[in-house]
Amino acid sequence: MMRKKIAAGNWKMNTLPEEAHELFHSIADTYEELGLNEQKQVILAPPFLYIVQLAEWAKDYPYLHIAAQNCHSESKGAFTGEISAIQLAAAGATHVIIGHSERRAYFSETNAQLEAKTKAALAAGLTPIFCCGETLEIRDNENCIAYIINQLKASLGMLSKEEFSQIILAYEPVWAIGTGKTASPEQAQEVHASIRHWISQHFSNEIAERCTILYGGSCNAQNAADLFSRSDVDGGLIGGASLNAETFLPIIQNLPA
Ligand code: PGA
Repeated sequence: MMRKKIAAGNWKMNTLPEEAHELFHSIADTYEELGLNEQKQVILAPPFLYIVQLAEWAKDYPYLHIAAQNCHSESKGAFTGEISAIQLAAAGATHVIIGHSERRAYFSETNAQLEAKTKAALAAGLTPIFCCGETLEIRDNENCIAYIINQLKASLGMLSKEEFSQIILAYEPVWAIGTGKTASPEQAQEVHASIRHWISQHFSNEIAERCTILYGGSCNAQNAADLFSRSDVDGGLIGGASLNAETFLPIIQNLPA
């Protein structure tokens, strides 16, 4: 069964306006050559500030989407400094990253909060890109697959089949994020296959087969082809290497056809 292959760029707290402009256009300028389509897409997750502008530019490119990096679980109200999913949708975002390990670690986001954010995103019509992944300590000392499945169960286990089928997952081993250490294609495949198995047990085989599962953690132009060649790896969530067209474009080009 065909499932979407995706290269998503997580810009994190990087880029000033001119850099965001240049980066967006360097990708948009090669749009035709990238051969994107319904099954092969690119998502850019800039800082909140640039979403309105980038979403406006992205209107000319049907398979180039704009994501937020986070959202609040409430739709509006007295939450100083926060941004809701419906505000993001109104600004033109179509996707939102939820549960990135930096948010879990530095902003103490809990599984329960991530469940609420996921529901808010779905209610606003946004596609969540839901992140999971283990620390090095967990990989070395515990059953890391059980840990990852528990993360998913805790935040997504209560969703209906219809809701879950909207979700994109990203497996991002914390020890590989921004460290230059990448999970080997075998390690990534093992986790992705286990995640897909859990989805098939918990939801359905069909939903599992359709679910796009991205790999993230020091994915770059050199290792993307090998990672993406694994049967359960459907593309990448890319941080550092997405901040430069020279490193991001080859990753997009390595998405399977
Ligand atoms: P990285 O980040 O590619 O810089 O390791 C990935 C991510 O955090 O999404």
